[in-house]
Amino acid sequence: MSDVILVKSDFDRFSEWEDEFRKHDIQAIPWDDMAQHCETVKYALVWQPEPGALASLPNLEVIFSVGAGVDHLKGEGLVPAGIPVVRMVEDSLTAGMVEYIVYNVLRFHREMPVYERDQANQIWKPRVQQSAWGRTAGILGLGVLGSAAAAALRRLKFNVIGWSRTEKQVRGVTSYVGQNQLGIFLQKTEFLVILLPLTDATHGIVNQTLLQQLPRGAFVINAGRGPLVRDQDLLAALDQGQVAAAALDVFNQEPLPPQSPYWKHPAVTITPHVASITLPVTSAHHVADNIQRHREGKPLTHLADLSRGY
Ligand code: NAP
Ligand code: GLV
Repeated sequence: MSDVILVKSDFDRFSEWEDEFRKHDIQAIPWDDMAQHCETVKYALVWQPEPGALASLPNLEVIFSVGAGVDHLKGEGLVPAGIPVVRMVEDSLTAGMVEYIVYNVLRFHREMPVYERDQANQIWKPRVQQSAWGRTAGILGLGVLGSAAAAALRRLKFNVIGWSRTEKQVRGVTSYVGQNQLGIFLQKTEFLVILLPLTDATHGIVNQTLLQQLPRGAFVINAGRGPLVRDQDLLAALDQGQVAAAALDVFNQEPLPPQSPYWKHPAVTITPHVASITLPVTSAHHVADNIQRHREGKPLTHLADLSRGY
């Protein structure tokens, strides 16, 4: 008999997951049918499950997060004690994030928002282009996604530096570590790329103190999580010109409420949490591989540590 995985995904894509899992001899069950299958479910693939739901599955052995981030699984009653949680780490999710970051760094580097405004006003005004190798992109969170974005920006000849909790080896990228080295990292960073996970330690980390340490006129790109940023501090930095422009994919409240000042801010570009999306066709195999490892009693890959928060 094939293994059963309960699926709670976003974008209403159950049939895509079902088709992909079938290729691996795994039976997918939609979240709404949980009650009829709760005894047989060994695996769950979830995005933002309701508190208590996973605890109602007596034979659950592994939880897979639909996303790379696992902050949606942190909270009272969300994950039953002792059940391992596997993060989504797969090439297509990484490639999507690399595209989003490279696109936005290049967009700011090549002054596209300025030329778009000029075009709207029929202004012909050439500006001297700066070279990429004279400019520094700083990646806040040099993990799976941050390291891939850093490597891609290096290939485009930017100076690239990264900040993380532990030291990283990414070819051509200077690694800064911990609170002691955050200041020196920020002083050099003209394009701040935020790819940290949301944890107790990182909540609100992009605040006035941090933003004031960037060179004046820096750019901010947030593809990590909204609550990493204190909105009022970023808006003040934008209004003062300390931050020249921001590309924001994630927000403290999603969907972004109609009254948010970000919507109409001339220096802000908004996308609705789509920097990189998990696609069933490319990521079901990551889940299936781990299920196979679990069947064989091998260690699971890309386990999250919920006590650490990521
Ligand atoms: P990851 O591999 O776990 O990388 C996280 C990085 O952050 C690591 O380098 C880690 O350092 C660092 N870090 C964590 N806490 C820190 C702290 N307190 N101080 C300094 N560095 C810290 O995660 P990932 O796969 O790259 O994903 C990163 C995040 O991207 C996810 O958590 C998610 O929120 C976001 N995301 C967004 C989208 C989107 O569409 N917008 C899509 C996918 C993911 P160490 O390695 O040294 O511990
Ligand atoms: C999306 O936000 C993810 O965490 O993969």
